[in-house]
Amino acid sequence: MGETKGRAVRKEVIGNATLYLGDCLEILPTLAAESVDMVWTDPPYGHGNADGDMLSRRAEAVGDGYATQLEAIANDGGEDMRRVVDGALSEAARLLKKDCCCCCCCGGGGPSPTFAWVAERMDRGGLQFFHSVIWDKKNPGMGWRYRRQHEMVMVAHRKGGKLAWADENIKQPNIISLSKPKEGEHPNEKPVALVERFIGLHTLRGHVVMDPFMGSGTTGVAAHRLERKFIGIEIEPRYFAIACERIENAQRQERLFA
Ligand SMILES: C[S@@+](CC[C@H](N)C(=O)[O-])C[C@H]1O[C@@H](n2cnc3c(N)ncnc32)[C@H](O)[C@@H]1O
Repeated sequence: MGETKGRAVRKEVIGNATLYLGDCLEILPTLAAESVDMVWTDPPYGHGNADGDMLSRRAEAVGDGYATQLEAIANDGGEDMRRVVDGALSEAARLLKKDCCCCCCCGGGGPSPTFAWVAERMDRGGLQFFHSVIWDKKNPGMGWRYRRQHEMVMVAHRKGGKLAWADENIKQPNIISLSKPKEGEHPNEKPVALVERFIGLHTLRGHVVMDPFMGSGTTGVAAHRLERKFIGIEIEPRYFAIACERIENAQRQERLFA
């Protein structure tokens, strides 16, 4: 158990990973400026996981209660999402080194264009938007009229610095096709391979990767596999516990095979 400014949180150090249980808006200000090489994060998308446009339509049409079985994600309402992402991006600009990378996932479709808000928000406070990358999930999910097959990753760097790029010989297409993980431990779990791709593009071995909305710890697993240090924050005790377990398992497996 550790203490940070204002609020007691749990802090776990697992090998090269430091994980905090708590609100990233309270924990990020306690971390040292210019101590992070890359932020890779997948915040709440702001459409209410349990009642996105497609789910309410489905409930009307099918009435099978599917939407109510889905768990709500903390801060997933439109206003809350903007508040926490706004605060986390401000802190990211303070924590990142001059040449760095900040990747923020967001939903690709409507009805409210959060992808546009995230890109514009990056430009507004200490960061500079660089590019948008599409994650093609290979199979369409649900959707009203348009079925959702992609999500987006907004890529930025610190204003005044440049985008860190690990190997000048690599040219990365801005569409990455990878299937969703099957039966993940978190309703929004990302494929480890997707996160690895970005970490590999923008950092070198030993660099520090930070995820203020780490969920089940996918970024920590990817960072460990690529021998990067990791700092992760999660507000929900249940997901924090899963993240600790996944990162510990990833490290244990490596020791077994070493
Ligand atoms: C989209 S999910 C991340 C899923 C993750 N990429 C994975 O693969 O498991 C966003 C996470 O942010 C967490 N969260 C929401 N508000 C937060 C806050 N203020 N501080 C820290 N975590 C927060 C939610 O509990 C949720 O687990």
